[in-house]
Amino acid sequence: MKTLIVYASRTGNTERLANILYEKSLEAGNETDYVEVGDVHVQKLSSYEACIVVTYTWGSGDLPREMIPLFKAFERADLWRLVTGVAGTGDQCYPHYCGAVDRFRDMLHAKTDLAVTLKVELAPQQSDVEKCSLFIDKLIARKRILLSAH
Ligand SMILES: Cc1cc2nc3c(=O)[nH]c(=O)nc-3n(C[C@H](O)[C@H](O)[C@H](O)COP(=O)(O)O)c2cc1C
Repeated sequence: MKTLIVYASRTGNTERLANILYEKSLEAGNETDYVEVGDVHVQKLSSYEACIVVTYTWGSGDLPREMIPLFKAFERADLWRLVTGVAGTGDQCYPHYCGAVDRFRDMLHAKTDLAVTLKVELAPQQSDVEKCSLFIDKLIARKRILLSAH
């Protein structure tokens, strides 16, 4: 499954999470591109079978500024066949924990075939590695359902 992993990270937690998802995606046999959000070509989103957005949360439950162009590109595009997942890191001290994950979840659910979400508290721990494996499994399972339906 041709997969794009696109991430934004300030202090490294989300980059680490994206990196684990990248390793698990490769292990599962997916052809996988791994890019920081500033380097993503939004017009190429439709050339992928699956896309994983990995984001931290800023402000008060807000999207990171650098994620906004990608968010808007998804909103504009016709990508209902694209299987998606959203993962992110956040801090439970804030009232809206992983708010950016929730924002992406709601939009991707409306605009794409959202298969899975994951929230991680700050830096990923060993227990999160297993969750990342399940995340990739769910993405692949959804693609199989989509293929069998068409
Ligand atoms: C100014 C500021 C605002 C934040 N706001 C939130 C928030 O609203 N919700 C949340 O869950 N985490 C919030 N966080 C925590 C970060 O999302 C969290 O530390 C995350 O792991 C950072 O990811 P990174 O290491 O990839 O940059 C905030 C952090 C800072 C410094």
